[in-house]
Amino acid sequence: MSESNRYVVHVQNATKELKMGQVTVHALRGVTLSVEPGEFLSIIGPSGSGKSTLLGLIGGLDTPTSGKVYIDGTDITDLSERELTRIRNEKIGFVFQFFNLVPTLTALENVALPIQFARRRAFNPASRAKELLALLEVDDRMHHRPNQLSGGQQQRVAIARALANNPPLLLCDEPTGNLDTVSGALVMQALRDVQSEMGTTVVMVTHDMDVASQADRVVSLVDGRIADDIDPRSTAQLAAMKMLREGRGVTPSRQPEMETQP
Ligand SMILES: Nc1ncnc2c1ncn2[C@@H]1O[C@H](COP(=O)(O)OP(=O)(O)O)[C@@H](O)[C@H]1O
Ligand SMILES: [Mg+2]
Repeated sequence: MSESNRYVVHVQNATKELKMGQVTVHALRGVTLSVEPGEFLSIIGPSGSGKSTLLGLIGGLDTPTSGKVYIDGTDITDLSERELTRIRNEKIGFVFQFFNLVPTLTALENVALPIQFARRRAFNPASRAKELLALLEVDDRMHHRPNQLSGGQQQRVAIARALANNPPLLLCDEPTGNLDTVSGALVMQALRDVQSEMGTTVVMVTHDMDVASQADRVVSLVDGRIADDIDPRSTAQLAAMKMLREGRGVTPSRQPEMETQP
């Protein structure tokens, strides 16, 4: 078994350069990161540090300029669009800051939708959707449409939808970014429940250290590079994290350097 096979996610020296006219933005400057099966990992960093870019590479929504990304041992940087779509559908659930539910469908119908469209249908759509809504503690709202739900309820429905076809990996970009503290805490608890009850690997991006520190492991990005990789449950590392939170020990937030091409 090769090294990359042991991990759900293995990113190897990934860079991402984005050209905007004459200007090249170095969004990622060589990131190497491995995520074990069942791990709950937070990626934290200031705005513009490359968090969403990194999550996009892991989710196969984008390709690195150089370097490799392996999902469940498969190198996804060399795949055709068709193969990549299959990996995304089978292996990865996505959760976004703004929920992105279909407004005309009920909670139940939103969660059932990806099961109905699966290439190989593994579940009964309605019963699977009810089960997931119960795990996320929003089953009492299953016949409501998104505009009849609170933000926190909508996000828990969106998590249920992301899990519909039982992907091994759940990717969340600022899942609490649009929620008040109480709703955000419920969403974080829901993600912990998903990890422990379904064994799903969770990779979450956030700029909020209180949210990030609820994970098993916190990786911090600064200017497109990994600056720290810590276990928030270890006391020594907690001290390091407090320093991070107080803005000591990390490079002050700034925009990535830009380069003007000749
Ligand atoms: N499509 C794009 N075109 C040009 N620059 C981009 C694009 N997406 C992101 N960037 C730049 O890349 C850097 C990293 O962005 P991003 O990954 O969105 O950071 P974060 O999610 O940490 O806020 C930023 O400087 C951002 O402006
Ligand atoms: Mg972002």
